[in-house]
Amino acid sequence: MYEQVSHSLLNRILDELKPEIRKRDLRHFYTRLGANFYAIHSLFHQLYGDRDDFERQMGRLVEVLANQFIKRESALKKLDTLRERDHNWFLSQEWVGMAMYTKGFAGDLKGLQNRLSYLQELGINMIHVMPILVCPKDASDGGYAVSNYRDVDKRVGTLQDLQSLSTSLRQRNILLTLDVVLNHTSNEHEWARRARAGEQKFRDYYYIFDDRKIPDMFEKTMPEIFPEISPGNFTYDEVMNKWVMTSFNNYQWDLDYSNPTVFIEMLDIILFWANQGADIVRLDAVAFLWKKIGTTCQNEPEAHLILQMMKDCCQVTAPGVLFIAEAIVAPVEIIKYFGEDAIIAKECEIAYNATFMALLWDAVATKNANLLNQGIRSLPDKLDRATWLNYVRCHDDIGLGFDDADIIQAGYEPSAHRHFLVDYFTGTYDDSPARGHPFGRNEKTGDARISGTLASLAGLESALESNDPKAIQQSVDLILLLHGMIMSFGGIPLLYYGDEIGTLNDYSYREDSSKAQDSRWMHRPVIDWEKVELRHRHGTVQQMIFDGLQRMIAVRKTIPAFADYNNRELLAVDNPHLFVFIRSNPFQLNDSVLVVGNFDSLPQSLTLGDLGDRGHFEFEQLQDLYSGASPYMFKDQLVIPPHQFYWLRPMSV
Ligand code: GLC
Repeated sequence: MYEQVSHSLLNRILDELKPEIRKRDLRHFYTRLGANFYAIHSLFHQLYGDRDDFERQMGRLVEVLANQFIKRESALKKLDTLRERDHNWFLSQEWVGMAMYTKGFAGDLKGLQNRLSYLQELGINMIHVMPILVCPKDASDGGYAVSNYRDVDKRVGTLQDLQSLSTSLRQRNILLTLDVVLNHTSNEHEWARRARAGEQKFRDYYYIFDDRKIPDMFEKTMPEIFPEISPGNFTYDEVMNKWVMTSFNNYQWDLDYSNPTVFIEMLDIILFWANQGADIVRLDAVAFLWKKIGTTCQNEPEAHLILQMMKDCCQVTAPGVLFIAEAIVAPVEIIKYFGEDAIIAKECEIAYNATFMALLWDAVATKNANLLNQGIRSLPDKLDRATWLNYVRCHDDIGLGFDDADIIQAGYEPSAHRHFLVDYFTGTYDDSPARGHPFGRNEKTGDARISGTLASLAGLESALESNDPKAIQQSVDLILLLHGMIMSFGGIPLLYYGDEIGTLNDYSYREDSSKAQDSRWMHRPVIDWEKVELRHRHGTVQQMIFDGLQRMIAVRKTIPAFADYNNRELLAVDNPHLFVFIRSNPFQLNDSVLVVGNFDSLPQSLTLGDLGDRGHFEFEQLQDLYSGASPYMFKDQLVIPPHQFYWLRPMSV
């Protein structure tokens, strides 16, 4: 019954399509629309079905899908077809990513294009070019406050530069990831300006209130994202004499997705960037897309419906394009962004593994893997055809977003343990070599997050200052250990620019008044290319880290067991300092790799006999695929040096 409703509506919509659309050869488009329309219609109906203009909006949506399909270049359409055929292509171990600010990495987009061979030298074949769209000079949140979604900010180049970059990337088989900031616009975006000028159409794009009555109700349950730099979730606008919802900074106006026009506009923008050659679209702050009084306004079921609908629509026009969910939320919530109640991912194919990231940092501070093991064990199973983005750090702060229940299970008191971690990474804890800074400290809740580059958090800054070779080596080992984990865990490892040469904190942001309050800028470096050259000089920190990562990436790409087919088994071992898991080749029996990481600063041992019959590692002579060497053994006890990891395979395989 329902299906008939959607099909007859589809027929009507197609009959009414503008003649210039009808004239085109849209074979692939119609096939995909037919296959996905029922899902799109039912989702759209769930969200907007009670509106008088429902059918008109549905027609408008189809028109947007068709128009963007017509504009899609044939090279991209060819890729779509190839990827449809090989639909698990992104689960392969061959992909290794890096995220970067264009300005900090290479000055501008042309500069970035000139640096592609450097990235290839390292082995990177996926780049996340952080936001490059037009944004205000100062109130920009590093590009996440967009004032024009269809043009490149002139500080980094032009749309043509981006197109040329995207063509070069395609020729080199490097994937391009671009952001679409879905939750909010800058208060200088045309929509916001027209709302401010009184146009009702655009006021309906945002959450705008006459007085504090409703905002106060929202505030009761909405947490603060930036409690220090932008407390509260609403901002008074003097021109309108009204209150606007601003969950993030006070200049980032939240979009209201209960208005279908907003949904269609943003979908059109996603497809626009897909058509500029983005292979992957990073959907920013997806947890926040639906607001309801009495809730935290995060992870609402409707936010998932919106994402599912975006995916289904993208499937019609640009099926080769993947979505990354940037949802830095509780572990049980993160997993839902792959899609709920399904076997195959039907929302975002990729999600940031914020849980693993935070747990790795816990293991660094505690020198053991108790919470890491516990947290990974509690992480719900992931759907098929979904993969993690595994990272050690990114451009944002490190939030300690693991579950209290897991902290308790690991033997700690949650609040005291979180305090310890913040103290440890901000260097206030005795003995800590870390040089991080607190971010987003909330006096009301006692929460805090952490800023600082990987190298500074791993102790390299303090080790270099005290000119202590042992401490330098230790932090280099730690940096490599953390990468050894994200490269083998299952998913796409995402490096962060500068980390490949051990870039330290940059304190110059304090002199820029538009950044001084936001300590995340200390880990958004401007790359010093002279330092990068030091990777060729033996014994430098740059050489040790770069070469280690280069080797790791090259080796990862040759290990099919590292592809992500939910083929990881976490092993419970007696030694608390070790994080141990087995990855098995999904395409070949008896081809497994045993991954062992030692988070302690002393050597540790693992009794292989205790692993049971998994892979029979105890009877074999083993080889560490990363170093090529055989590890130290005493009988069936494997010895893992401080802050080292192994990727072990029996020599006989
Ligand atoms: C995302 C971005 C972060 C930004 C926020 C608001 O979390 O990663 O940098 O501040 O969204 O747009």
